[in-house]
Amino acid sequence: MVVSPETLQYIQELKEKHNAVIVAHNYQHPNIQDIADLMGDSLALATEAMKLDADVIIFCGVNFMAETAKILSPDKKVIHPEPNSRCPMAAMITPEALRQMKAKHPDAIVVSYVNTTADVKAETDICCTSGNAVKVIQSVPEKKIIFTPDKNLGMYIQRFVPDKEIICWEGYCTTHQNSVTLESLKALKEQHPDAEVIVHPECTPEVIDFADYVFSTHGMLEHAKSSKVSKFIMGTEKEMCYRLSQDVPEKTFIPVPEAICPNMKKITMDKVIASLETLTPELILADDIMQKAKIPLERMVNIGRG
Ligand code: 13P
Ligand code: SF4
Repeated sequence: MVVSPETLQYIQELKEKHNAVIVAHNYQHPNIQDIADLMGDSLALATEAMKLDADVIIFCGVNFMAETAKILSPDKKVIHPEPNSRCPMAAMITPEALRQMKAKHPDAIVVSYVNTTADVKAETDICCTSGNAVKVIQSVPEKKIIFTPDKNLGMYIQRFVPDKEIICWEGYCTTHQNSVTLESLKALKEQHPDAEVIVHPECTPEVIDFADYVFSTHGMLEHAKSSKVSKFIMGTEKEMCYRLSQDVPEKTFIPVPEAICPNMKKITMDKVIASLETLTPELILADDIMQKAKIPLERMVNIGRG
């Protein structure tokens, strides 16, 4: 066991004392996964966190995820144990830069990946996650779409909507773009020729072309459960393999060893316990930004999973 029984007991007492829940993304450290009450991909965390019967959410993920939980659950106290756990892709776009882009394309609708800060969402028409991106784009009547900030996800969606023009922002995930490479996947496939290759849509087009399947982290889990195949090379953040091995222990999941999101890993057990003890650092957002960002997020939630 990664977490000692004494630590588990202490965490349980603190959770009961504050009516708190621990919510964690699939890329969190294994010991954080072990203490989470709710785990999932970005879409599940956005939709399920607001249904939780709790006063306090201890959010173990990067900043935009904690912000999304706060915007969709404004009456709950959202605690982000490490406020510097920030997604570099989300930092590749600002509201001002997006306003300039919108001025250049006044006939386009803005679809933003949920991996954006709240102030960018406030400039957005509708959000999506990797779990429903194609469905969201298909749902909008507009033919011209500014898609921010992930160019790889934007180019992937374009394959499914040839009748639409997707203008991609030049952002990318540093982990998927730089560490899940064609070379790394080919080397793993040579070692494990019987394994299926599954990648995240934040990967580059050449990696996507090489893969057998492309899924959000939730889709990866569902596929692993239902597939007849028993071995998978996972082209995504390495800790996803821990999640998969917990839920589907009879199958083998091979990570790309260098695919680590350092920002996800800034949330540690000590910080989570300190947050449960002190109910800090609380995530606070300006009311006007929350009101504006809620509109594209609620549209995304209403569309549901693809
Ligand atoms: P999903 O878990 O929504 O697939 O997202 C992956 C990711 O990189 C989140 O930052
Ligand atoms: Fe951002 Fe990529 Fe890390 Fe996800 S894995 S939080 S997109 S840097």
